[in-house]
Amino acid sequence: MGILTGGGDCPGLNAAIRAAVKSGIAKGCQLVGIIDSFNGLFERPTRTSLLGLEDVSDILDKGGTILGTHNEGSPFGEKPEENILRLREAMSELDLAGLIVIGGEGTQGIAGELAATGVPVIGIPKTIDNDLPGTDQTIGFKSCVNLVADSVMRLRSTAESHDRIMVLEVMGRDSGYIALHGGLAGGANVILIPEIPFDVKRIQKKILERKNIGRNFSVVVVSEGATEKGGEAIYKEELGGAKTLGGVGVQVAQKLHSLCDMDVRVTVLGHLQRGGSPCPEDRILATRFAVYAVDLALKKRFNRLVVLKGQQVSDTPYSEVSRFQRRKLLPSDEILRAAEAISVCLGR
Ligand code: F6P
Repeated sequence: MGILTGGGDCPGLNAAIRAAVKSGIAKGCQLVGIIDSFNGLFERPTRTSLLGLEDVSDILDKGGTILGTHNEGSPFGEKPEENILRLREAMSELDLAGLIVIGGEGTQGIAGELAATGVPVIGIPKTIDNDLPGTDQTIGFKSCVNLVADSVMRLRSTAESHDRIMVLEVMGRDSGYIALHGGLAGGANVILIPEIPFDVKRIQKKILERKNIGRNFSVVVVSEGATEKGGEAIYKEELGGAKTLGGVGVQVAQKLHSLCDMDVRVTVLGHLQRGGSPCPEDRILATRFAVYAVDLALKKRFNRLVVLKGQQVSDTPYSEVSRFQRRKLLPSDEILRAAEAISVCLGR
């Protein structure tokens, strides 16, 4: 089997590669690492490497991906049919029975399209955003939540010393899982998510209520895709011209500064959320997903995405997953309600 990582990286990718290689070798399945997502198969000469036990030793806790990854545009480029043919050619030259694709929503969408053209594919879900449909959890999410929770707690202590409002902008694209879970675990006072357009007056009210009981500081976690009621998502231009979500933290801070007459500081957590060592939960999830994927390959059960449903690892056909939209929190989500029950302001 070929194995690749696609899309933005996250903690736990190496743990998955390691588990696929170790369990594969034990069961008589060789794994060929494909470098830089699908690109390693499109290019000539192909960029691949047969993975042995020595290649995956000591990578369980290593951040990033030893295979490299790519998240700019579709790997099929402007000539999709030609490129799929090149990919098939490379697979047959390398004698690959199929591909194990470790990726998020974008990469799994591509893998689903490949599966539909007859390329044998098995998917493993990863993304810090936790927004992949079909699975309750993706590799990388819990490590990110740990960092966000820790950051909120650090901001709380400095906010309290200086009587300040601290705004923390976190990733997550159009889904609020990172903000909600990280914010709740860290003890944030306000959590703003893309699924619930916020009203700044509600946030002001919450912060002033806290002031009235002697709590002269507040921590506001805002997801990069959150929008003000009636407003639109805010994008920034990266060097090189790419437009990415970002800037809502500053917008919220400016408004709160004038409405609450308090000192405000903004922290943008950025790519710190994607780097570093995976937490134990992600190491375990990555291991379970990869072992399950290799078992599917050995049973020749292709064109399936490995998923977590409740506590159970299982699988679902790509055709089912592609029918869903990107996963989002429902406004009635039980964790959202728990947050509100302890008077966390969601800006609604
Ligand atoms: O999907 C993961 C993610 O980290 C998002 O939360 C974020 O918006 C995006 O990737 C950033 O991507 P890039 O690597 O292009 O900066």
